Amino acid sequence: CGIVGYVGQQSALDVVTAGLKRLEYRGYDSAGVAVQADGGLATAKKAGKLVNLEKELADRPLPAGTTGIGHTRWATHGGPTDANAHPHLDNAGRVAVVHNGIIENFAALREELAERGHDLVSETDTEVVAHLLAEEYSACADLAEAMRLVCRRLEGAFTLVAVHADEADVVVGARRNSPLVVGVGDGEAFLASDVAAFIAHTRSAIELGQDQVVELRRDAVTVTGFDGSPADVRSYHVDWDASAAEKDGYASFMLKEIAEQPKAVADTLLGRIDGSGSLVLDEVRIPANVLREVDKVVIVACGTAFHAGLIAKYAIEHWTRIPCEVELASEFRYRDPILDQQTLVVAISQSGETMDTLMALRHAREQGAKVLAICNTNGSTIPRESDAVLYTHAGPEVAVASTKAFLTQLVACYLVALYLGQVRGTQWADEIRAVVRDLSSIGGAVERVLETMEPVRELARSLADKNTVLFLGRHVGYPVALEGALKLKELAYMHAEGFAAGELKHGPIALVEDDLPVVVVVPSPRGRSVLHDKLVSNIQEIRARGARTIVIAEEGDEAVVPYADHLIRVPVTPTLLQPLVATVPLQVFACELATARGNEVDQPRNLAKSVTVE
Ligand code: G6P
Repeated sequence: CGIVGYVGQQSALDVVTAGLKRLEYRGYDSAGVAVQADGGLATAKKAGKLVNLEKELADRPLPAGTTGIGHTRWATHGGPTDANAHPHLDNAGRVAVVHNGIIENFAALREELAERGHDLVSETDTEVVAHLLAEEYSACADLAEAMRLVCRRLEGAFTLVAVHADEADVVVGARRNSPLVVGVGDGEAFLASDVAAFIAHTRSAIELGQDQVVELRRDAVTVTGFDGSPADVRSYHVDWDASAAEKDGYASFMLKEIAEQPKAVADTLLGRIDGSGSLVLDEVRIPANVLREVDKVVIVACGTAFHAGLIAKYAIEHWTRIPCEVELASEFRYRDPILDQQTLVVAISQSGETMDTLMALRHAREQGAKVLAICNTNGSTIPRESDAVLYTHAGPEVAVASTKAFLTQLVACYLVALYLGQVRGTQWADEIRAVVRDLSSIGGAVERVLETMEPVRELARSLADKNTVLFLGRHVGYPVALEGALKLKELAYMHAEGFAAGELKHGPIALVEDDLPVVVVVPSPRGRSVLHDKLVSNIQEIRARGARTIVIAEEGDEAVVPYADHLIRVPVTPTLLQPLVATVPLQVFACELATARGNEVDQPRNLAKSVTVE
């Protein structure tokens, strides 16, 4: 969910709704606002996307006010209805609260409140907070203190922002787990889940820590712990501006972000390779002697980041000979994994706040493992709680389906693998040097792929009425196939599945029927040519059974030509780096196909960009 709070001189409604627009990627099931006006609170909330709320506000304008809060929701408790939308109010309508997370003991609290005569009207866990705040406030007449008292009673993960009708020009926030950032302006202050919500007004930010409460006034920001003790705060300057989060003339953020990939890749490499071709990763604060002792690498991540991890495994094991496991973060801690001081856990997360990944890394650290985060969001929770972080420099990614962040995660994974190889002085030193050279020029290869995408778009449009698309790959092409299928599921709402091409004959080939589109990611014929030849055989096997083959193959690979109904060329790259170029056509394919089906690609149904619940 996305949260915004504002206190200042401007129209709170304008600031809050503009902020919510920037946070819509965090959830878009419903949205709502509350402003202090005429000695009370005026609220509006609406199921569906933010435009529904905007329409409601245009039809029935709220009175003007300069203090307000807002929320854009990704439903957990209770369906996405008007009633369940935030803000939630107490019965007297004096306090309004918005919430991100899950309050685990809400049922008990709700019962307790009902016994005391409160009438709870929604199905949400959030509503209990409004009622509890109202009770505490009536005793202490201090909203920040009321918030601290309430937070001490809540279990689970929550970030809350509240206003009270009796406390003019004050917004109070509380943070546990999911992020909350303060923006400090001149005579105004902001609260939001992400700096993007207030970047148009100020670039001066304060990241709230775990279990902290903040009180915002026009000219004062006070942060305390849940126990009331003064808290140390970390202020920072946001180093990107509002234009980085604008569409820049593209029809969607996704198209813009796909186009930005060459730069994102280059930026992620910047300053990390010196003139002699050695890796300089001083930011990885885990000392070389500790890295030399590592005897196992475990990668944890979710969604697209998990696919980056699957690819990293091939690189890490090949270049370092350290065994590497990759696991879905949501499964990791529940199977009681074997970890110790010699285990390096790599947590990959674009947002740095995915709850599943955060919980996995906490579990890993409890077992004594060292955790290295690969993350795109400066100062977010996952890097803060890790021993070290390697930032991807993709810039803000707004479209829900990850594209440029994925490519930069791959680059970061390669850097980690190569760096581990470098500090351990493996037998692959020559290959590592050669790969570092190739990696330095990979942005240009991605650029070349982007320049040749028109036939891919045309093909995607022609397949808009299909029900199923399969994706095949081997070696690193297998996770690429999984990612291609995930993109199509996310965006086009089609049945799409990725398989290891070699596994085809053990079951999935039964799915192949006449004219079924099957995308095949073919490895380079150079190097591991056996693999290439096996894949060419796999293409023949499915084509013989009627499949319509869409083949992604390296420039100059002639062996595939007779069996490809559609051929998509990618530049020559070393085998392990091929996912950087082979994934791009699949992103374009999914984006175009989804658009042809009339779907909104930036905000696919039911999804949210950062999922801050387990
Ligand atoms: C959500 C998004 C996915 C993303 C995943 C992991 O499910 O919809 O696109 O890959 O979270 O996100 P992270 O921020 O941890 O990389």
